[in-house]
Amino acid sequence: MSFSKRMSRIKPSGIRAVQKRIAGKSDMISFAAGLPDPALYPLEDLRKAADTMLEKEGATAFAYGLTKGYGPLLDYLTDRMNNREHVECTKENICILSGSQQGLGLAAMTFLDEGDVVITENPSYLGAINAFRPYGAEFVGVDTDDDGIVIEDLERALEENPKTKMIYVIPNFQNPTGKAWTLERRERFMEVVAKYDVAVVEDNPYGDLRFKGEPLPHLRALDKKGQVIYLGSFSKILSPGMRVAWTCASKEVATAFESLKETNDLQSPELTQMLTYYYLKMFDLEKHIEEIQVVYKERCELMVEMIQKYFPAEIKYTDPEGGMFLWLELPEGLDSDAILDDALAAGIAYIPGESFFSFDGVKNTIRMNFTMVKDDQIRDGIRILGDVFRKHIG
Ligand SMILES: Cc1ncc(COP(=O)(O)O)c(C=O)c1O
Repeated sequence: MSFSKRMSRIKPSGIRAVQKRIAGKSDMISFAAGLPDPALYPLEDLRKAADTMLEKEGATAFAYGLTKGYGPLLDYLTDRMNNREHVECTKENICILSGSQQGLGLAAMTFLDEGDVVITENPSYLGAINAFRPYGAEFVGVDTDDDGIVIEDLERALEENPKTKMIYVIPNFQNPTGKAWTLERRERFMEVVAKYDVAVVEDNPYGDLRFKGEPLPHLRALDKKGQVIYLGSFSKILSPGMRVAWTCASKEVATAFESLKETNDLQSPELTQMLTYYYLKMFDLEKHIEEIQVVYKERCELMVEMIQKYFPAEIKYTDPEGGMFLWLELPEGLDSDAILDDALAAGIAYIPGESFFSFDGVKNTIRMNFTMVKDDQIRDGIRILGDVFRKHIG
């Protein structure tokens, strides 16, 4: 049996490698997670929503539905995009997805041929890089600074790479860095990309997890040419296991996604789409999001405070206004993958940053998660990690 060429391009995930090493070690303090805290799922409300749904819908909750998605949820999302996210759209622009991860795969299938170029932020979400890689695309990374993607570098990348088909970005609390783009960067980004025939994938699973500052317009809201494919998700604000997400894109792209999705999984599960809808109808999602924001804000602020207290001053860190991660930069020459052995021996796990780069990774970087750790774990874990780093910095 010979596998396709695509399979040879799939790389093992650096995140899974760390998670394998810490599996079953319950006393490990792990900053390696990439998950929302399950203690914050609204379990009781979901149970009530499920009871009502089953009573009212009966067998239809278990039946096939339309590829595009469950009608009432499509209506809810159209309304949410217009009135809460300030993105003008109709139902024709929306397609429900099995997680925004599916949207990344569908975007790759829709746009990428062998040898095409994808521009990403440098570093970027590993799951997106891995979703695009099998299609034989080449990657070009563009650096970000504290304000977001560096526009001059983006312009250069677009000029130097005429085969650019797609740009993939996470303007809100990026995975892995936690950075958010300023309004000015968003506007300038849209001015630049409007000059090119490229698709822009705006991945926004963390936008609602803003715990400081004011929400800023989505790229899709600033998009005059219909270039932006917005991906939204309930994974980080309701439940990741329900696998309910959506795209809001031009009608052509939404229709292309629907056709491809039909061959991919026929539809997202009717049961979880319906349950999401019943939850939204019966309960106050915004209030629930506020509860999550309060907890994550406290954990993030505590982590930053402990970093300031215990880490050697040479270590740079981001101070996110939302999301689930912050990003460390160790002094040049240090290899966070090699240091991980010592950290694990001291009972602390993190994800070395190298695998978030689409090409030769930067070895002195680390992704730290703050949503899955309790206060005492943050205090102890950062103190111990500070000692490990100090030993290597010398
Ligand atoms: C940037 C980014 N995009 C997409 C996803 C996938 O999310 P979903 O659960 O909606 O598929 C993740 C998951 O962590 C992510 O960090």
